Order: sequence, then structure tokens, then C-alpha cells
Amino acid sequence: MSKQVLVTGGTGYIGSHTVVELQAAGFRVVIADNLSNSNIEVLDAIQKISGVRPDFENVDLADKLATDSFFDKYPDIDAIIHFAAFKAVGESVQKPLEYYHNNLNSLLNLLGNMLRYNIRNMVFSSSCTVYGQPDKLPVTEQTPRKPAESPYGNTKAICEDILRDFCHANAGFNCIALRYFNPIGAHPSALIGELPLGVPNNLVPFITQTAAGIRNELSIFGDDYATPDGTAIRDYINVVDLSGAHVVAINRLIQDKQKANYEFFNVGTGTGLSVMQLVKSFIAVTGVQLPYKIAPRRAGDIEKIWADTSFANEELGWKASRATEETLLSAWNWEKSVRGIN
Ligand code: WQD
Repeated sequence: MSKQVLVTGGTGYIGSHTVVELQAAGFRVVIADNLSNSNIEVLDAIQKISGVRPDFENVDLADKLATDSFFDKYPDIDAIIHFAAFKAVGESVQKPLEYYHNNLNSLLNLLGNMLRYNIRNMVFSSSCTVYGQPDKLPVTEQTPRKPAESPYGNTKAICEDILRDFCHANAGFNCIALRYFNPIGAHPSALIGELPLGVPNNLVPFITQTAAGIRNELSIFGDDYATPDGTAIRDYINVVDLSGAHVVAINRLIQDKQKANYEFFNVGTGTGLSVMQLVKSFIAVTGVQLPYKIAPRRAGDIEKIWADTSFANEELGWKASRATEETLLSAWNWEKSVRGIN
């Protein structure tokens, strides 16, 4: 019997892409998601891509009783990938208690059930946000974490600490935190992708919605940073590449290849691109009009960050391979398919 992986938040953006990659690698998948920021139709799209409909349960993982009942129904799970979380930085500043309640309790409830059902493996969605604005670039896993700039970021740092302490106390239980840089793009089928509710906060959905005519104009937040063209620099990673890192991490856990029972890795491309470079690249590769203007800096933004990925490359044997142009085109194809544009 193939191994069964629980993907929390599996109908979400990164979750849905990871479900597809897990299925391709021969895993059985069960999704737990409360659909607070995703859509049940994603299951049809996953089935179209892979030919297999994953099991699905609508569960609020911050609810202990509901989470316990879920595990009673699925007692044979081999590993968990925990994506489900609130992720809007600005909203977290307005609603800190909701962020702490949701993001911390869901992890605690999952870990409690790992002990109850002897599920020994977890991959956790962490974020490069734990580094803040690093003093030295690129950031390695040894780069010190900085105090979080937002409650959202703080939940990621606290969850990492919970995992470290949990693994320290429970030999034989294994966790890997993946610190994502900026995931962008969509599955090449254009059947799944990122679907933000309302006005997008993130750059690439704002670009594709502007190109689709849903937004009038893109605002580029700041052109007076200490970078070559003055706009902020990030490490944009293709979501399918990122999903592949989860499959590698799951195999590492299941095959007991870890060097320590709690590990964390940078998951990026190793290359920093400025907002202006990304915008120009989008225009060049799609040939569409993209009205944009320079606007003031956005509160809370850091100037620049990109990953040193050598630890992930060497230790996991994983490397991001898709070019930014291909990735931006996939984001545009997804936007067009959602909006019915030819
Ligand atoms: C990228 C760059 C903006 C929108 C956030 C979280 C992080 C992570 C990913 C996830 C910045 C600029 C953006 C726009 C712009 N976690 N920008 N105009 O802020 O690097 O990271 O998302 O869930 O934890 O903090 O990503 O895509 O919002 O911004 O100029 O309309 O694009 O200022 O320099 P960010 P982003």
C-alpha cells in the first residue's frame, strides 16, 4: 500500500500544487481544509490533472475536537504537510488574536494527534520572513532570525520553535520546516493557481489582474531603495518547483535520511530580482500592456532578500529549475483561464 500524506490547506495555492506533485510521486493524499481561503472546485482541477481525486475533509484544524475526530477517521496517515494558515501580513496587524489562534492552535492540534496516532513525520510551511531584513545577503540557514515585523511573521517563528521543542522532546518524531521565499506562478495546465480574494496584496497576482484589466494600474512600492534600480528585491520561486521540495522533504522523512530530527531549509532560487525587473520581464514575455506607476514605499516592506540555497541543494538534492519567464507566463495563463481571456 502506498504511503498516505495529510495535506492541510491542500485546496490552497501552494497546497494544491503540492497535492498534484505528491500524487505524481505515488503518494495517497488526504486534504484537510476549512475552505476559508480556497474553493472546493480545486478538487475537480486536481483530479483533471492527476486522474485521481484526493480524499477531502472540511475541518477547522484550530478546533481540537474536530481535529481529533478527523484523525480518528484517518488513523493510518504516514506524514503531514502543514500548509493551512492565515497568511495576510497586513490583516495580521489588524487581527492579531485571530492569527495567533488559528496558526498556533492548528499546529498544536496536529502535533497532539501525531503523538496519539504515532505519525512520525511533518513538513511545515515556514517563511523567509523569519529573517527580517538580514545584515548579510544571501541568507543561509545560519543567518540569525530577527524579531518578526508582523503577527503573521511571528506565528511562523513561534511555530518553528514549537517544532524544535517538540522534536527535542520526542525522539523518533521528525519535522522539516521549509522557509519559502516568494512563491509565484501556476501549474502549466492552468487548471490550478493562486486565487486571491479581493484586492491582491502580493505582487504577481496584482500584475496579472492589472494585465487582465481588473485593476487600473500597478503601484510599484518605492523606487528609492539601495538597490541597482531603486526597487525592492525578492527571490521569486516557481510554485511547482516549491511543491517539488515538499515531495523531497517527505521522502527524506519517510526514508529516515535526516541528520537531526528537526531541520529547516531555505527554499528559493538563489537569485534576487527587483520589482522593476519582474514587471519588465512580465511585459516582455507576455507582450501585454501593464500600466504602472511609482508609489511610496509600503509599510513593513524590507529592502532586499534572496536565498543561499546551497544547503537545500546539497542536503536535499533539490534545486529550483524553472526560469522566471516561464513562471510569469504560467501566472498569466492561469489568470487568463480564470477570467476567460483568450
Ligand atoms: C513583493 C515586492 C512589494 C505589490 C509576502 C510576505 C511573506 C511571504 C510572501 C506569505 C515587495 C512589491 C507588491 C504591489 C509592489 N509569505 N509590490 N506592488 O512582501 O515580499 O512577502 O508574501 O504568504 O511572508 O511578507 O511579497 O508579493 O507582497 O511583494 O510594488 O502591488 O513587490 O513592495 O517589494 P513580500 P509581495
